[in-house]
Amino acid sequence: MKISVLRERRSGETRVAATPETVKKLVAAGHSVTIESDAGKVSGFMDSAYEEAGASIAKDAAAAVQGADIVFKVRGPEADEVSTLPDGSSVIALMEPFAMDPKVVDGLNAKKIASLSMEFTPRITRAQSMDALSSQSNLAGYRAVIEGAQIYGRAMPMMMTAAGTVAPAKVFIMGVGVAGLQAIATARRLGGVVTATDVRPAAKEQVASLGAKFIAVEDEEFKAAETAGGYAKEMSKEYQAKQAELTASHITKQDIVITTALIPGRAAPVLITEEMVKSMKPGSVIVDMAVSQGGNCPLSKPDEIVDVGGVKVAGFSNLPARLPADSSSLYAKNLLAFLPLVTAEDGSLNLDTDDEIVTAMLLTKGGETVNERIKS
Ligand code: NAI
Repeated sequence: MKISVLRERRSGETRVAATPETVKKLVAAGHSVTIESDAGKVSGFMDSAYEEAGASIAKDAAAAVQGADIVFKVRGPEADEVSTLPDGSSVIALMEPFAMDPKVVDGLNAKKIASLSMEFTPRITRAQSMDALSSQSNLAGYRAVIEGAQIYGRAMPMMMTAAGTVAPAKVFIMGVGVAGLQAIATARRLGGVVTATDVRPAAKEQVASLGAKFIAVEDEEFKAAETAGGYAKEMSKEYQAKQAELTASHITKQDIVITTALIPGRAAPVLITEEMVKSMKPGSVIVDMAVSQGGNCPLSKPDEIVDVGGVKVAGFSNLPARLPADSSSLYAKNLLAFLPLVTAEDGSLNLDTDDEIVTAMLLTKGGETVNERIKS
């Protein structure tokens, strides 16, 4: 099949959906790959490297997608990008399925374009190598700690020097999914004293295994707070009140707080109120990783550092884009791992499959929105 890779157009998006390494493998598998010129430039992958790997380079997006069976992207296409895609083609990307512009959905359906959402990769063992939420969250969790450490005006590890002792930073990780676990590991490596919280009981053991202390309201609701898919449920008002009380007393003593709490398809839960921010010491830092889903702290703003009486509240809307070479490499490998599921024996694209991974990821097909999770 013909695979086309477009340059990302969203502001601040530095990633690319294929790397020379994945292109080489796609070409070896018998596919033809066309890359839009400079698609990988910002992440350090030059046109010449793609050419060497066997891709052809197209001068612009229109030329790149000509005759494409499937278009690889990092971010879902915007309405004007949809208009350049060939009728009846397919596109695979982080489609942001719960926040799609209706014009994009209409455009995809008008052109009978099949769209596949990487966010809907089911959390089953067979799909782990395709799970872009995990690959990107892992790097984002690492980067959040690095950003937090950079904003923090003190050192992270304890240092005993002739001139005196520097106390280690107290780091609190709120939400211990993929990003939170990596944030714990990173903060520990940097020498921080780490505590963490989550509403899923499975997180408790994972936190302990990374050498951090688990702090949570462990009532009956907590014991049942994980869905079959491994995600968190929205907690009751009563639970949220108990959780807020616990957070309020703990957070005043923290130096760096990283929040990662998300609930798929819903606004991020508010975990740090304005009052809590104001109770923190001047110089402390909050990194709100949920800022683009509404934020875990109402004071955070996308891509800004808000100063609240000396407490810095940082909102990074796209942390993986701050590590473009690694995040592109892993994302491109996620796509590479997925492709065989939609490749027929003769190498052509086949979306008519009963594979549960493909059906879970398909949003639109043949002019219709086919995914129940986004239909209503
Ligand atoms: P996520 O990005 O949806 O959310 C981040 C974290 O926030 C989660 O741990 C969630 O429980 C937590 N959270 C939600 N509401 C909260 C609240 N009110 N207070 C505190 N924390 C709250 O989660 P992510 O990173 O996608 O991971 C969810 C789970 O799925 C994890 O257990 C992860 O290990 C698992 N997973 C399983 C995979 C597989 O089996 N193939 C692949 C990837 C992840």
